[in-house]
Amino acid sequence: MALSISLTKGDLAALETDAVAVWVAEGDLAKQRHISAITDSFGETLLELATLRGFKGKADSVLDVPTFGKLPAKRVLFVGVGAKRNLTSTVALRKYAAIASRAAQAGRAKSLSLATPVKTTPDAVRALAEGCALGTYRFTKYLTGDRQPKSTLAEVALVKTEGRLTVAERRAVDLGVEVAAGVCLARDLVNEPPNELTPEAMAQHARRVSREGKLKIKVLDKPALKKAGMMLHYAVGQGSANEPRFIHMSYVPKRAKKKLVFVGKGMTFDSGGLCIKPAGGMEDMKTDMSGAAAIIGLMAAVAAVKPNVEVHGLVGAAENMPDAAAYRPGDVFKSLDGRTVEIINTDAEGRLVLADALAYAKGLEPDAIIENSTLTGACMVALGKTCAAYMTDDPALAKAVNTAATQAGETFWQLPLLRDLRDGLKSSIADLKHTGERWGGAITAGLFLTEFVGDVPYVHCDIAGPSYASKPRGIYAQGGTGMPVLTFLRMIENVR
Ligand code: BES
Ligand code: MN
Ligand code: ZN
Repeated sequence: MALSISLTKGDLAALETDAVAVWVAEGDLAKQRHISAITDSFGETLLELATLRGFKGKADSVLDVPTFGKLPAKRVLFVGVGAKRNLTSTVALRKYAAIASRAAQAGRAKSLSLATPVKTTPDAVRALAEGCALGTYRFTKYLTGDRQPKSTLAEVALVKTEGRLTVAERRAVDLGVEVAAGVCLARDLVNEPPNELTPEAMAQHARRVSREGKLKIKVLDKPALKKAGMMLHYAVGQGSANEPRFIHMSYVPKRAKKKLVFVGKGMTFDSGGLCIKPAGGMEDMKTDMSGAAAIIGLMAAVAAVKPNVEVHGLVGAAENMPDAAAYRPGDVFKSLDGRTVEIINTDAEGRLVLADALAYAKGLEPDAIIENSTLTGACMVALGKTCAAYMTDDPALAKAVNTAATQAGETFWQLPLLRDLRDGLKSSIADLKHTGERWGGAITAGLFLTEFVGDVPYVHCDIAGPSYASKPRGIYAQGGTGMPVLTFLRMIENVR
């Protein structure tokens, strides 16, 4: 049952609902006029309780108070947003809504009324709607009996206390819901276990999204990969009973301002192949298709937003397994762009699949290629688990990623494509080998990929860290985060 979100006008103190949530800026609560409608009905007690609990409106803090009949609402949630000026930022609003709705759901509320900021705009409303859907997300498909959630938040009313409701704001609610659905689809795909989410299952999801969103789709199966000459992708998938797929989704509007191609790594499970990974933590390698999940989720969101930009989504899906038919260190394969690659380590499989996908992307003659992948452990060593790296030789594209990420509230940091490390990719028997030395591993991976895009402006995003969260944080739920769908969507919406 999906969360239903609506926009209404009302008086916070008069709402009959399980929970009423109000933003609180950092500072003296007694001076914040917009909460007086609620605090007045409590006399002194509510502000006293806030003092007692040390609630001061700090960002991300929540004060959850039962009303015991003092208000028609069953409980009040004060949600700290930090500085008041934060309320003009869609990032802070999305987070406010996520934290409020998550707290409401955790408190077993079925309905929530969420106060909008005093100055409401369509963008603010969209961010609030996105936040509610993202904050309450849980992956419960495989829980049975007692393990099923006890209570689910079913309804949120975004409440405007001043001014009138506009048509644009109402539309913004629906848009927010659809964008969040794209992000949550990406999360679902990441959270699915690898026995269920095979490359073909991923293609099925892409087909459904394309059907529902009226997108075009083309899927290459194993024989088709060979026929197309995508032998790097083919090689990675040849050791698995779950055969590889290449997926090409496209959204082509009538008068497009630009053509962008988004690419994602879709390793439905990465055992490391013959260069097998240690057993500890290997289960996490079901998330090695997070880049692909983001592309499929992004295309769903694009179908809803309908930008004046031509958008292609490419996914290289495969399972990396050890087997009698598996590819080996020492093997040489020809990529789609004709160059030969010597295999060094079968656990550096992502860049092989991506090399063919990037060569395919180049063939679409786009204005830019934006690729994302859970590519290296080295990137997590460099930037930690909450930050994505981006690497590009194109300053304008670097700026576009940085701006979009800031607007979307997702954390990115640029790494340099240092040509000093390029020597590590020289092979004595083929045009290239696919791994260099250990140091600077995130960068050598980026350099390898850069070989396959020709002159097309290209940015590589390594999302190994932030694609997954071990506990809820801001708009992210535990598990797959759906990062960087919001950033990529912003990049598209920013095209002028
Ligand atoms: N999928 C992994 C990278 C990864 C590791 C993602 C941990 C998320 C968490 C990738 O295929 C891989 O195995 N990379 C190797 C590359 C090495 C063999 C050059 C790595 O990072 O160790
Ligand atoms: Mn690997
Ligand atoms: Zn991998």
